[in-house]
Formats: sequence, structure tokens, C-alpha cells
Amino acid sequence: MRELIIHGSYLVGAALFIFGIKRMSRVRTALRGNQLAAIGMLLAVIGTLVALGSINYLWIIMGLVVGGGIGAVAAKKVEMTSMPEMVALFNGLGGAASFLVALSVYFAMPEMPDWIKERTLSSHPMGGATTGVALVLSLLVGGVTLTGSLIAFAKLSGKMKGAPIILPARHAINLGSFAATLVLGAIAVFGTDCGGFMTGLLMVVILALALALGVLLVIPIGGADMPVVISLLNSYSGIAASMTGFVLLGGGAASQGALMLIVCGALVGAAGIILTGLMCKAMNRSLLNVLAGGFGDTGSSGGGGKEEYGPVRSLSPEEGAMLLDGAQQVIIVPGYGLAVAQAQHAIAELDALLEKRGTSVKYAVHPVAGRMPGHMNVLLAEANIPYEKLYDMDDINGEFKNTQVAIIVGANDVVNPAAIKDPKSPIAGMPILNSHEAQNVIVIKRSLSPGYAGIKNELFEYPNASLMFMDAKAAVQGLVKELKDL
Ligand code: TAP
Repeated sequence: MRELIIHGSYLVGAALFIFGIKRMSRVRTALRGNQLAAIGMLLAVIGTLVALGSINYLWIIMGLVVGGGIGAVAAKKVEMTSMPEMVALFNGLGGAASFLVALSVYFAMPEMPDWIKERTLSSHPMGGATTGVALVLSLLVGGVTLTGSLIAFAKLSGKMKGAPIILPARHAINLGSFAATLVLGAIAVFGTDCGGFMTGLLMVVILALALALGVLLVIPIGGADMPVVISLLNSYSGIAASMTGFVLLGGGAASQGALMLIVCGALVGAAGIILTGLMCKAMNRSLLNVLAGGFGDTGSSGGGGKEEYGPVRSLSPEEGAMLLDGAQQVIIVPGYGLAVAQAQHAIAELDALLEKRGTSVKYAVHPVAGRMPGHMNVLLAEANIPYEKLYDMDDINGEFKNTQVAIIVGANDVVNPAAIKDPKSPIAGMPILNSHEAQNVIVIKRSLSPGYAGIKNELFEYPNASLMFMDAKAAVQGLVKELKDL
């Protein structure tokens, strides 16, 4: 019976993680996905406690109360817009937890249960080669994740300048530190002369190098690329957890808990790397290009200069309201400027007013609009805009031609036709929202400054486009006022 509970809860738990992640790929099902994964985690915890049998629960309960308390307060207090910073911190703590558990297995061996001792102490101070390699990798990946995530947190929260910090010979320094970690790890695991103290010292040096490497790898990356880095570090935190699972893996019933850690870590590692790939693809940049750093800062607009524009039409809120009057369908395209202006509540008001007047309102959400995954979804959800109105790029692109007015609120690169029309454009190949196909396009932004990619947007010169040169919130509020006055 006991075995059935243990194996059953692990199996169902792992399946729930997979179903949960699957559901998180859609806004509508994300909440349920999160709940499923949480139930899976509860089952995994129950299975592990049953497997451990009668143990002293004091430390476990203390950890649960302190950690759970901090997590609950943080989750309640955090602003929706600060979610990436929180994710960065949690990733870092995940990395730290992984390497601390792995280290404790090594340093606390005499107090470890027999099944760990047997496995790790068998033939060498580092235990079997598998355990040793996993321990070194846990320290390396966990250490990089901790400090890399802390730098990402500092850059995103403005505690540190977002601009890339480029050290001379940084590639040589990084490669050298990485190689040194591997060599020291190989000596610790395979060096026959290594004794207890010496191996322990090597472990500490490897961890110190990994912590330094985390800082070195993230400081050259611009603040605007941090979301991609956070997603990658999320993947690393999963890999570190998996490695720690291998360190713990041994004989006996309790080792099943380590199996669960390996499964969860692998899922996080895979999901994180897939998200990283999707973000890079949607930005039409390679991961190597992001990691090489030196691109993007935290400014509202990209680093490029203002390019020459031909005549562009400007438009007042009053004229905008006249375009909206009588429109059957309006598509709102939110972008980074919406986040800067915090215009989401004003947009919700405009939406309600248009719907009341018989106009159907939809939202076209580009996967990399804004500066973090789901940035626009989070902002629009904050203003209680129903999920059903939010459309992914592929689902809405065909609808622009049948739309009377597309309102672009602080978006730029994600609606730049150069991506699909000019093969020489720096963003060539990046999929865009086809807002230029709408009968009328209202572009709300403060100037002709470029977006994140730093390039001209010919949409602004299109005959069906007009620019409302205003702060997004003021502009949308102006549209609401004028519509009410019509
Ligand atoms: P952007 O192309 O960056 O353009 C944002 C526009 O907002 C700017 O042109 C700016 O023009 C305008 N703006 C700024 N503050 C404003 C305000 N208060 N009121 C009105 N407008 C304001 O934004 P996007 O179209 O959302 O594209 C996102 C870009 O970021 C893409 O290039 C993407 O690759 C990149 N990126 C995205 C992510 C993720 S995961 N989302 C991660 C890293 C990089 P003015 O200054 O003239 O107002």
C-alpha cells in the first residue's frame, strides 16, 4: 500500500506537471494549468514524506513556514508589472537551493542516511563518478543561476543601470573561468589523490568561480534583453535541480524523491529553453546574439537615431474619435509604450465605451510586444480586459483587412512592415501584426523616435495611417472624452 501511494503520487504528480505546462501555453487556460501543476507538486511532497517514513519534521515545518510565508507575502504584494523581477529572484533562489542541497550531501555525509552514504562514499571521496559529476554541475549551474538572476533582478528593477557593462577581454575571462571550473571539477571527481579536505576545498572554489561567472555573463547584456536572460536562467535553475536530483539519487525508498527532483528539474529546464527559443525567434535574433550582449538598454526607445521620414499625418483625439464613430470593428495593438504610459485602465474605458456604441473591440498581442513575455497580457488583465478579447498574432492577422480602425498604442517594431517587406531590414523575418492592412491606422506615440530595434517604421508614412503624437494614456483618455462628446 505504502509503495502504491509513493509511486502513484509521483506518477500522477509528474503527469499533472506536464498537463499544467501544456495549459499554460494559452492565456485562457493558464490559471487552470497553474493549479494543476500546484496539485502535482502537493502530490510529490506527500509521496516524498511517505517515502521518508518516520523522520524529524521540525526542520521541514520550519522551512515550510519561513519559505512559504515569504513566498505568499511576496506573491500577494508584487505588482503585476514587477513579475519578471520576482521570477528572476525565484530562479536565483532555486539555483541556490540546488547547490546548497548538493553541497550538504557532500559535507554532511557522515550524518546522511545509509542509502546516500553507500552511494556517495563507496569508492572515492566524491562517491561514484555519476554523483561527482552531478555535484560539480549542480554547483556550476546553480551558482551561475543565483548571481546571474540577481544581476538580472537588479537591472530590471532599476537598482543597477540597464546599459551593458562591457569588460575588456570578457570572452577570454568567461571562457577561462568556465574552463577552470571544469578542470577543477574533473580533478575533484577523477583525481585519485584527492582526499576529503582537498575535495571539499575544490568544491568551494568551483562554487566561487560559478558565482563570479554568473555576474560576468549577465552584466554585458542590456536591460531590454533581460527577459530572454531570465527565461534562460529559469531553464538553468531546472537543470541545477535535476543535477541535485542525481546527487541525491541512491538506493532505498527515499531516493524516489530524488527521481521527482530530476523529473521536475528536467521539465523546468526544457520549458525554459523552449520559451527562450520562442522569444529569440519572435525577435528574429539568435540566442548567441543575445548572450554576446551589448544590445539594447532600458530606455523607452531603442538606441538607434531618428531616421528621416517623409510627410506623416498627425491627428488629434477629436479626429480620432470621428474615425472610431460608427466603426464595426476596432483592433487595439498594445506595445511597450502602453506599459510606459500605464494606459491599460484608460484602454479598458475606451473599450467599454466602444462596445456600448456597438463596435466590436479586439486586441492583437504580439509575442514580444513590450519587454517581457506576456507583458501585454499582464497589463490588460490588470485592467480586467477579458481573455476572450486577446488574440495571438496568427489568429488575428487575417482580420485586419476587415477592420475599420486599428489603434496602435505605443507599439512600433511589432507593427513595422519592413520586417516582411524589406529583406535588408535588421528585423527582416520577424513576424509582425498586419495592422497596416486595416482601413485606418491610428498610431499613438509621442514622437517619431524608433522602438527597441532602433529603426524607421514606414507604416507611419502609409496613406491609411495617422499619428497621434501624445503620451498613450493622455491620448486614449482624449479619445474617450471626444467619443463621449460626439
Ligand atoms: P517598441 O518597438 O520598443 O516601441 C515602443 C514605442 O513606444 C516607441 O516607439 C515609443 O515611441 C513609444 N512610447 C514610449 N513611451 C510612450 C508613452 N509614454 N506613450 C506613448 N508611446 C510611448 O515596442 P513594441 O512594438 O512593443 O516592440 C517590442 C520590442 O522589444 C521588439 O523589438 C522586441 O523584439 C523587443 N523585446 C521584446 C521582449 C519581450 S519578451 N517582449 C524582450 C526583449 C526585447 P516614442 O518614444 O515616440 O513615444
